[in-house]
Amino acid sequence: MERTENRYLQVAIAAAKEAGRIQRLHFGDLHKVEFKGEIDPVSEVDKLCEKAISQILLDAFPDHDLLTEESVFKGKGSPFKWVIDPMDGTTNYIHGFPFFCTSIGLEIDGEMRFGVVYDPLFNELFQAEIGKGAFLNGKRISVSSNKDMDRSFLTTGFPYDVREHADFYLRFFRQFVTKSVAIRRPGSAALDLCYVAAGRCDGYWELRIHSWDVAAGSLMVKEAGGEVTDFKGRPFSIYAEEIIASNSLIHQEMLQVIQEVAQNKV
Ligand code: IPD
Ligand code: CA
Ligand code: CA
Repeated sequence: MERTENRYLQVAIAAAKEAGRIQRLHFGDLHKVEFKGEIDPVSEVDKLCEKAISQILLDAFPDHDLLTEESVFKGKGSPFKWVIDPMDGTTNYIHGFPFFCTSIGLEIDGEMRFGVVYDPLFNELFQAEIGKGAFLNGKRISVSSNKDMDRSFLTTGFPYDVREHADFYLRFFRQFVTKSVAIRRPGSAALDLCYVAAGRCDGYWELRIHSWDVAAGSLMVKEAGGEVTDFKGRPFSIYAEEIIASNSLIHQEMLQVIQEVAQNKV
């Protein structure tokens, strides 16, 4: 059962589910792909999803602002700002690799208050409201209880400028891979965060991330009892470009690894 008593959540869920319907419908087709950068793809499906989500949100809340990945931001100065990744995991999607989602967060007066992430293939709907917890298909979720970095299961991602800065990004990977049980690179930052929230993995880090990748997922982790900061351990802002999210128990150790790499100690 879904918790849908809040109108913002209700509309965000409707929008995410419509995007999910579109993604399912075209999954496995051959896609016309353009590249925004050397390896940063966008397909027609990203654009179809963005259009559908924007329409649903603006029909319900015509005065609100929308910050969406595939369009230039035209803010009206509203205190309500929806931060939207119409499809997170486009590279997976266009290859028929089944790991992608839609992510929608609502910021009110600069504070992230609501988040919805929908994985249409598993039919998993993650939702969170500030102060009210995080839920997966209506059931409350919480982060893992693993205190031991040495036993930890981590995820990460590589930004689209990885070809220019491969050595730098791989130094973080190298350190974590020798201090954890395993690392996965699933290909959807929003789902990576939801998986931390659901206790499916213990921690996640990434550099050069965008607000739409992490808006909903970062709230999900906090509401599930986890911790989210930047690489210096400062409170997380979705507009900062780096993120560490964890079950909170291994956060200090993750920060230490990050700091060692950032300060060129390893
Ligand atoms: C990307 C995915 C990927 C992450 C990249 C993101 P997109 O988003 O979340 O996991 O490593 O940094 O840009 O382009 O598929 O929406
Ligand atoms: Ca994304
Ligand atoms: Ca995207």
